[in-house]
Amino acid sequence: MAEIGTDIKKAIGFLQKGGLVAIPTETVYGLAANALDERAVTRIFKAKGRPAYNPLILHIGDMDRLKDWVREVPDPAIKLMDAFWPGPLTLILPRRESISNRVTSGLSTVGVRMPAHPLTLELLKSLSFPLAAPSANPFGYISPTTAKHVDQQLGDVIPYILDGGPCGHGLESTIVGFNHGKPVLYRYGAITKDQIQDVLQSNLTISTKSSDHPTGPGMLPYHYSPHARLVVVKNIHDYDITDIEKTGVITFSKPIRILPEKQQIILSQAGDLHEAGRKLYDALRHMDQCHYDLILVERMPEAGLGLTINDRLERAAAK
Ligand code: TXA
Ligand code: MG
Repeated sequence: MAEIGTDIKKAIGFLQKGGLVAIPTETVYGLAANALDERAVTRIFKAKGRPAYNPLILHIGDMDRLKDWVREVPDPAIKLMDAFWPGPLTLILPRRESISNRVTSGLSTVGVRMPAHPLTLELLKSLSFPLAAPSANPFGYISPTTAKHVDQQLGDVIPYILDGGPCGHGLESTIVGFNHGKPVLYRYGAITKDQIQDVLQSNLTISTKSSDHPTGPGMLPYHYSPHARLVVVKNIHDYDITDIEKTGVITFSKPIRILPEKQQIILSQAGDLHEAGRKLYDALRHMDQCHYDLILVERMPEAGLGLTINDRLERAAAK
């Protein structure tokens, strides 16, 4: 079990010594280390069981130091930073040599974001180095949205979890990169495609296709997965469930009739996608702990955060 607390000084102490600390963000909890210390960064990969080819996001607290980590910032990136930082947006930018291959998996770019969670922002502003941090889950499993989620799975391998309460968005950051200066959406996230487009006022290429081996900006085809079999269903209220006792169901806003209530989680009775996103990962974890043979999840409406949630559900089901 890790120590869980809100002591920023303690977190700084571990990080300065090259240790790992789990940090709260507005999206999901991250597993952080000094991004300028290769041995510390290596510990992240080891703790998560994450393949070395999957690059980490750099978390920064100070705009003035961005130039120390990246070579150039295209105009649309500046617009997006002005609009969404601090916040759940990661930008893929050309990196400087100051950021090691260990962080970027040998790519010439680095993903950077300034998170909005007050505790983590204060932590970042107190440090002389940026933090490299992936989501604080074992590789391939569901991302954590509470300190307890982190402790349940990584508590034995990290000394300290900074507890910032449940994450406000509950879905990872949106990732945007640039191809010859033109913006490309690489991962649906807590900021919607429409929000990005509204700021850019120009075409946004969507490139969220799966790749087994992300050599460029990439996402793995299977991810965010519970251990149980998960199936995503469009018309869940008409779905023919064969083994009632061994099935758990997650719906968007209404329960299904044929299953006992205790086997169901409704993400948002008000039909609010933001609430559904915030509760999704906890619901998947809960269902996984109930040891059903099958977890059925209703597909969300295909707009706004529904696109992000459906993306995660598809990857969770792909395992
Ligand atoms: O909300 C978030 O982004 C959370 C919190 C902790 O900040 N972090 C997160 O990190 O989701 P992670 O490592 O679980 O997912 C980061 C994704 C990976 O799919 C990785 O391949 C991609 O970002 N990525 C990172 N750097 C990249 C780069 N230079 N080029 C392309 N993709 C990159
Ligand atoms: Mg992750």
